[in-house]
This record gives sequence, C-alpha cells and structure tokens, in this order.
Amino acid sequence: MAIMSESIGFVRGTKGDSVAFFLNKEVNLSFGQIVRIDSGERSFYARVVNAESSSTLDIIEQLREAEGREAYGPYSAYRSVEAILFLEKRAAKARSPTFNPNYKDRVYSTSEEDCSVLNLSGELELGRLLSGEQLLGSAGISVEAIPLMMGMFGMTGSGKTNTELVLNAQIIDRSPETVTILFDFAGQLLDGKGMKPQKGLKDHALFHSKVRYYSAKDKKMAVGLHTITPEKLGTLFADTQPPQRRLAWALYRKLGKQWIESSLETYRAEGNVAVRAHKSVVEVLMQKLSSLPHDLFPASGYTFVDSITQNVCQGITCLIDISGLRSDDQTRIVCL
Ligand SMILES: Nc1ncnc2c1ncn2[C@@H]1O[C@H](COP(=O)(O)OP(=O)(O)OP(=O)(O)O)[C@@H](O)[C@H]1O
Ligand SMILES: [Mg+2]
Repeated sequence: MAIMSESIGFVRGTKGDSVAFFLNKEVNLSFGQIVRIDSGERSFYARVVNAESSSTLDIIEQLREAEGREAYGPYSAYRSVEAILFLEKRAAKARSPTFNPNYKDRVYSTSEEDCSVLNLSGELELGRLLSGEQLLGSAGISVEAIPLMMGMFGMTGSGKTNTELVLNAQIIDRSPETVTILFDFAGQLLDGKGMKPQKGLKDHALFHSKVRYYSAKDKKMAVGLHTITPEKLGTLFADTQPPQRRLAWALYRKLGKQWIESSLETYRAEGNVAVRAHKSVVEVLMQKLSSLPHDLFPASGYTFVDSITQNVCQGITCLIDISGLRSDDQTRIVCL
C-alpha cells in the first residue's frame, strides 16, 4: 500500500543544484536528511545541508518588538531550508539531475517507496535511512563497488570514523569474498579511540581469525633493507633522478642485496662508494638512503609487505597502524 504523505513545505527558489524551500510549522527535519521534491513529471531527491529561521520584520522592528516597545501588525516568521539535489526520477528511471525544481513545487519527506527508488541497499550494510524519527530501509554498499574510488566527507564529529568501522566490520564478516588492507593514519580503528562506546575492530567477533594488526610499536612493521631493490627507489623517494637510479643499479649489481648498508658504511668511512660515480650523485643518493629510519627499515631480509600479501590472499584483513610515523614514512609504507 502506498502511503500518500503530506508535503512538508514548498520551494521558494532554486539555483543550480541548490534548492531553498519553506518548511511547514511543526515539521521535524535534520541536517543530512533526504527530501523529495515533486516537479511535474519528475521527482528530485535532495539532501538537507542548511537551514535558517527568521521573520519578515526587519532587524529594528524585531528588536523593538522583543523589547516590548512596539507591537507590529501581522508578520510572518519562517524557516527556510537549503538542500542539494543529487538524483532525479522520471517514470521508473533514476539518474543524476538534468534540471532543477520549480518555484512552489512541493517538498516531501522520504518514504519507504523512495527508499527503494534511491536504491541505497547493498550487501555491505552501513545503516538505515532516517526520515525524521522514522527508520526506513537499509543503506549499504555493494561488493562490486569496492574497487571503485570512493570518498567519505563530513564535518568533524559527523560520524566518518564510525561509518568506516562499520564498513570494515562488514568486509571482515564477508571474508573471503571481501578483504581489505586498512591504513590507519589516526590510530583509532583498532580500539575505536575517541568513540563512544569505545569499540573498534578488536571487538569484532572474527578479529582473531580474520584480522592481522601491524603497528610500528610492536616492531611487526618493518621493511628489511635487503628486500629493497633499486626499482623501489622511486616508490620510496618520489624525487629520484635517473643518475641516482643508475648509481643504485650499479651498486646493486656489485654488492647484491646488501647494497644499501654496504654503500652507506663505505660512504661514512671513506666518503665514497664501491663504484665510480659523480660526487654529487653519490651524495644525494647516500643522503636519501641514510634518511630511512632504522626501526622501519632495519638491515634484514624480512618485509611485512610479504606477510600482508599472503594474508590478504587468504581473506585476512590487514590493519596497518601508521599513526605517529613521520608523514614521508607514512607515504613510503603505503606506497610499498
Ligand atoms: N550513527 C551514529 N549514531 C550515533 N552516534 C554516532 C553515530 N556515528 C557516530 N556517532 C558518534 O558521534 C561521535 C563522532 O563520531 P566519529 O568519530 O565517527 O566522527 P568523525 O566524522 O570521524 O569525526 P572527526 O572528523 O573528528 O574524525 C562519536 O562519539 C560517535 O560515537
Ligand atoms: Mg574521525
């Protein structure tokens, strides 16, 4: 049964993808809520982004009336809401908007029927669509959408980290169909730091079997120098020039896996390296290599990148806490 809901207001003006509408009294609306605007044959869907309330009195009149000094004749107080269009529906077809609503078009809060038009559900369930106080259908992301680029934007405290935790939990639930490598720049995903209640991925029922945690603190995050070949130079240092690359290959051919430690040692002792090269090129390359911090890049043959690759292949999600690292080291770890 389709329930014909009453309109909650009407359009006072549109400009591009922004729609302003007057809100009827006693209507409960919130930021982020989705509304429908019926416009002739089309319906538009828009997200509430702003609201204001005022009266038709000018500011002096408002103040005088508030102070009780003067009473003004009939005037109107109003609430105006701004919403951004994101979808248009015509017949059974939904697409991004090709036009915008008209003055005085009616605005409605979303119903369960709209929820199915919006096609918000997906196997990875993130929550429910909220309309006023009412919970409508499920909202989520489909598994096929994961390899596409996605971004999540919201003001401070709007719930991005929480959404991320829910999404990650869903991905872990569906292992091995879905699996992920998580880079935690802020160090909050493991135990939900700063969230109330403090719950993070370590509270997930499958944490011990389906998640591996890597952090610089417990020394599990290490990329042994012996695993770094000259071809990875550009990944570690974006500004690597061809002469430095040629020198690196020459050193690698001569010294093998130990090329980084050996040449740094020789360079420190003798101010030179094992192959002939221009002084300035040697200097720049040695400066780069010696800037790799020892705790992240120890002189060993172990790299945690291999461990991550193996785990991901087995459907085990890898959570990599890179918080607290210098930002160029964060970039290096992520790129590797
Ligand atoms: N769906 C939700 N329902 C109720 N409370 C929530 C919801 N999502 C987040 N919160 C609460 O809101 C607060 C902020 O959430 P969260 O840390 O996820 O926001 P954020 O967008 O990541 O903020 P920041 O920009 O500061 O990182 C937390 O206390 C969290 O528990
Ligand atoms: Mg956050």
